[in-house]
Amino acid sequence: MSRLQAEHLYKVFGRRPDDAVARLESGTDRDALRAEGTTAAVIDASFSVEPGQIFVVMGLSGSGKSTLLRMLNGLLEPTSGRVLFDGQDLTALSPRELRRVRSSRISMVFQHFALFPHRSVLENAGYGLEVQGVPRAERDKRAAGALEMTGLSGWEKSWPDELSGGMQQRVGLARALATDADLLLMDESFSALDPLIRRDMQDQLLELQKRLKKTIVFITHDLNEAMRLGDRIAVMRDGGIVQVGTAEDILVSPADDYVASFTQDVDRSRVLTAGAIMAAPATVLGTRTDGGAVLRTAADVLAAAPARVREDTPVIELFTPCSLSGTPVAVTGADGALVGVVPRARLLAVLGEPMTPTGTTPTGTAPAGAADRPVPVPGAEAVSHA
Ligand SMILES: Nc1ncnc2c1ncn2[C@@H]1O[C@H](COP(=O)(O)OP(=O)(O)O)[C@@H](O)[C@H]1O
Ligand SMILES: [Mg+2]
Repeated sequence: MSRLQAEHLYKVFGRRPDDAVARLESGTDRDALRAEGTTAAVIDASFSVEPGQIFVVMGLSGSGKSTLLRMLNGLLEPTSGRVLFDGQDLTALSPRELRRVRSSRISMVFQHFALFPHRSVLENAGYGLEVQGVPRAERDKRAAGALEMTGLSGWEKSWPDELSGGMQQRVGLARALATDADLLLMDESFSALDPLIRRDMQDQLLELQKRLKKTIVFITHDLNEAMRLGDRIAVMRDGGIVQVGTAEDILVSPADDYVASFTQDVDRSRVLTAGAIMAAPATVLGTRTDGGAVLRTAADVLAAAPARVREDTPVIELFTPCSLSGTPVAVTGADGALVGVVPRARLLAVLGEPMTPTGTTPTGTAPAGAADRPVPVPGAEAVSHA
């Protein structure tokens, strides 16, 4: 079962919201409603998040991300649609039940952590537990544990204003972790930080996630951040979700020109993996390599390849092996078997040519389900990549 499911969520601010939803459903434009003073902040958002996943919602300011997030923990009631948390319909709970779920099972981390200035770091980290009525001794113990996880051991007795911005964000994260909630909702939590500290926080979150395996919904307006963190990414535009997919899905087959325009600034060599760009092994079998050997079997290919890499190896790590030999790099699955090859021409083409939206690839063929197939690249069938 999915940990979290959003089903056709709508949130309309303004007059006669139900009426506005009906009109949106029958195709009325969001701008037409706005002209009447009604804001459709979220329009027909559906997705599911599996336990242990980091699900990122990416979109420009005003696209409806925060509104969507507040519906996920019941802080905002959807105008229409449902939110299921472990199969339980949040929209059907009484306010009291909802408060209980929210305080014990869901934690929220904001952009500005709003630490209490007159409470120590330890007390701030334990705040969520205090709300739950956890006794002092246990609260302090769990808060100290959470501070240790975020690298703040030794700072328990300090005041928030003695901490740098990055450290204050860590206290906010520790506060969320201390309650041991299954679901973390993070709204632009790293957006206010300097780039280096921000990267640090991203690394730390990924590191913590390996151990804690929380379910996380993370909001950002930065596609690079989305791609570093997200197991799956939803791209929002004007209240609607225009695409949900992995970082590779979005880079390789953006749903439309709008999504494609975001991907221009992304470093593809760090997001794309060998598995996403590889060609079928058949393309090198039965042909001569630079050395004159004929590759007839997968074993021949593996033997001749300058390097073997796993499917999940980032493309950036393929350049050195690819440059050192006349034969393509071999790509293997978890069991060591050959699953594909990366010829040099393909490696260069993938980085040189921005992908076009789904439906039109550089070769003009439709890459249906492009997520799990190689990027179509002209000339990639060339064998020896010299
Ligand atoms: N309480 C509210 N009342 C009226 N309009 C709102 C309210 N909250 C958000 N909005 C509007 O909904 C839209 C989406 O806002 P928001 O969810 O905050 O976007 P984001 O988080 O992506 O920047 C914006 O046009 C915003 O002005
Ligand atoms: Mg927001």
